[in-house]
Amino acid sequence: MKVLLDQRQLQAGVEALASEIRAVYGHRPLTIIGIMTGSVVLLADLIRKLDMPLRVGVVQTSSYRGTERGALTINSEMMLDITDRDVILIDDIFDTGQTLKEVITLMKTLGPSSLRSAVLLKKSGRQEVKIIPDFVAFDIPDEFVVGYGLDYNDEYRNLPYLACLESADLQSTHFHS
Ligand code: IMP
Ligand code: MG
Repeated sequence: MKVLLDQRQLQAGVEALASEIRAVYGHRPLTIIGIMTGSVVLLADLIRKLDMPLRVGVVQTSSYRGTERGALTINSEMMLDITDRDVILIDDIFDTGQTLKEVITLMKTLGPSSLRSAVLLKKSGRQEVKIIPDFVAFDIPDEFVVGYGLDYNDEYRNLPYLACLESADLQSTHFHS
């Protein structure tokens, strides 16, 4: 595994996101919705750098990649009421963009007064959709990354840094069903 962004770099990126968000919203009340599970670490770090009145909710998505590419399910049971609220949607990574596009489409039907999106990472050369996130902390090369919330087969989310998976890592799996 090769470290792409260490803890200090990640914290600087999250701080930069927080100051961009503060610059847009000032002290206006804000609702942040994290797309689970990948944004869990970013969400926890980011909200502690914001000081406006803040509500925090989550939405769960899962996509079945590889075999049934594009099939995405969204579970919004744990999401807060966002009608007439200023809302930011948070995700770990903007890859093809399909996840963010579909969650945004769903959320728009609920009538927020404004809706923006923020991601930690944006992979270059992968986008399949027209939208781009309003706030991006890091542009990264097209490599599979884990850590700081991002997983490979649900593993590695707890790494405090972001690393590229190498072929040796792809073979080992520590959990069996
Ligand atoms: P998109 O719908 O293609 O933009 O993919 C977004 C989702 O795919 C993210 O929320 C991640 O869960 C997952 N994903 C995309 N690239 C990576 C990666 O390099 N490592 C881990 N997860 C990834
Ligand atoms: Mg995800």
